[in-house]
Amino acid sequence: MDLYEYQARDLFEKYEVPVLPGIIADTPEEAKAAAEKLGGGVVVVKAQVKTGGRGKAGGVKVAKTPDEAYEAAKAILGLDIKGHVVKRVMVAAGARIAKEYYFSVLLDRANRSYLSLASVEGGMEIEQLAVEKPEALARVEVNPGTGIDHAKALEIAEAAGFDAELAPKVADVFVKLFNVYKGEDATLVEVNPLILSEDGDIIALDGKVTLDDNAEFRHPGHALLEDKAAADPLEAKAKENDLNYVKLDGEVGIIGNGAGLVMSTLDVVAYAGENHGGVKPANFLDIGGGASAEVMAAGLDVILGDPQVKSVFVNVFGGITACDAVAKGIVGALAELGATASKPLVVRLDGNRVEEGRKILQDANHPLVTLAATMDEGADKAAELANA
Ligand SMILES: Nc1ncnc2c1ncn2[C@@H]1O[C@H](COP(=O)(O)OP(=O)(O)OP(=O)(O)O)[C@@H](O)[C@H]1O
Ligand SMILES: [Mg+2]
Repeated sequence: MDLYEYQARDLFEKYEVPVLPGIIADTPEEAKAAAEKLGGGVVVVKAQVKTGGRGKAGGVKVAKTPDEAYEAAKAILGLDIKGHVVKRVMVAAGARIAKEYYFSVLLDRANRSYLSLASVEGGMEIEQLAVEKPEALARVEVNPGTGIDHAKALEIAEAAGFDAELAPKVADVFVKLFNVYKGEDATLVEVNPLILSEDGDIIALDGKVTLDDNAEFRHPGHALLEDKAAADPLEAKAKENDLNYVKLDGEVGIIGNGAGLVMSTLDVVAYAGENHGGVKPANFLDIGGGASAEVMAAGLDVILGDPQVKSVFVNVFGGITACDAVAKGIVGALAELGATASKPLVVRLDGNRVEEGRKILQDANHPLVTLAATMDEGADKAAELANA
């Protein structure tokens, strides 16, 4: 889960990372009041959207008075930044910037390690810096076992080009930012810009944090950070039912067991779709090992709730959960859903107790269900029905 800047700011504060006061506002009036609350001086009004490049898109504005903060918020609220409509701004105290730097620590999947990136050339977009001036961006591997202690932080500061006077001071902040990364089970903590103020303080002026959803059970508080209104309603419903569901934009709903089988099903359906008007998979949905009637019903319910779906392909390989249990699950789910189940279903079963499973479906003789002998045949049939 990606956090909004103001949520990252709050987390930073909790870990004693130096930040400036910031107040969120959903209307221009609230923005004006926030600017007054911050002392009536210079503030920066910042769009709260989960995408980068807000500044360039007109989503970050300096306001010298509360009235200017009102005008800035009015201009920013409702703005579309790369498809994200701004519903909230943060009014932040204005910093007097002497120098802008860059720092991040992230999960380095390819190397099964952590990686820290740092540069004394902040402000510029980091992707651009990495391409145009790669030598200015230090890349320092961080051992996940030992993390960023003060010595490691000094190494990062030196590699980034901080001078001997400033290095201990920024290193102190790097350690605190790593504490956020570790303490909150994040996969990314990025600060762009980290600044040196005219008063000589190091301050995190912007924050981007990605939390690891797999660690949610260790952080009961993280659920509160979720923006339920912005989430896709189908994905939210799937999540409530503990289903691994990802919405795609095609017409053939997919249900399978095991991530590998579901991914290959997506490929096979996309391929079959080329012969049937270019229909594509509508989603990824892995119902996992225990394909009970309840899980099958929950999965079908989510998929049938997608108005784009025209047909559904259920592709299951019976293993520990045998095909007869899956077939009972399908029959039970269709009974449970009743009239909600209104789209054709192609079912391919194979593996453990496949004959028993097929027989259950044949005996049930549901008008919407077609049995397919192979995965290719099933994909072709489902694509054909979606295109009908
Ligand atoms: N509180 C502040 N006081 C003074 N200047 C600020 C403040 N916050 C941001 N700025 C200035 O605005 C610039 C852009 O701000 P910020 O980094 O938050 O947005 P961005 O980089 O455009 O957005 P993103 O990081 O999401 O791409 C900063 O580089 C900094 O120069
Ligand atoms: Mg930034």
